[in-house]
Amino acid sequence: MSIEAIIFDVDGVLVQTDRLHERSWRALAQREGLPFPDGLADRLRGVSRERSLELLLGDAHERCTPERRVALMDAKNQLFLEAANALTPDDTIPGVRPLLAALREMGLRLAAASASRNARLVLDRVGLSALLHAVIDGHDAPRAKPDPQCFLMAAEMLQTEPARCVVVEDALAGVDAAVNAGMAVVGVGPARQDPRSARWLADLLLPTLPGLAHELPDPWK
Ligand code: G6P
Ligand code: MG
Repeated sequence: MSIEAIIFDVDGVLVQTDRLHERSWRALAQREGLPFPDGLADRLRGVSRERSLELLLGDAHERCTPERRVALMDAKNQLFLEAANALTPDDTIPGVRPLLAALREMGLRLAAASASRNARLVLDRVGLSALLHAVIDGHDAPRAKPDPQCFLMAAEMLQTEPARCVVVEDALAGVDAAVNAGMAVVGVGPARQDPRSARWLADLLLPTLPGLAHELPDPWK
């Protein structure tokens, strides 16, 4: 069955905002005197705002009132927004812009699907929105990955079937979501080694894009 659409995760795949999410959680932890143990950053990757707070608080999460949880999540989001508002096209993952343009030239339909409620702002700031046929963010699809909701909505918006879509993801929760949606997935960065990552698809696609493969740096390689 031929591929009709490529659906990209946003943070850590199209834009270097994975670092901003991590930095904002670290800053919040420091301000609140909460530990930020080794390995936590990896566990936060691609995970919803609510689940991220749960992971940060650990055992203390149970003792935290709903009001305080909301206040902490709002504070993290404020920190993230300050950084996100300063994004420029230079914060796009290098090589992504020509890649999207080349995939469009090939007749593929392109979408971004993210659990982040800030995904549209991020894509607008770096100037990628016009290269995408559809964007699904955390407002459109409230059920966060590994729920397949955002990918299924993207396929619907692109008027194609899940079996004709390829997802590009950097987070394990996103790889799970793609598999749950019945889509093929190319893992990049931390998700690259996932046994479910169809790297052969990337190897098949990228060399067909002259001059691009060598331009793609981490986390795409
Ligand atoms: C994406 C990011 C996560 C982030 C989540 C919610 O999945 O990879 O790091 O926690 O979205 O983002 P938000 O901007 O709505 O808090
Ligand atoms: Mg991501």
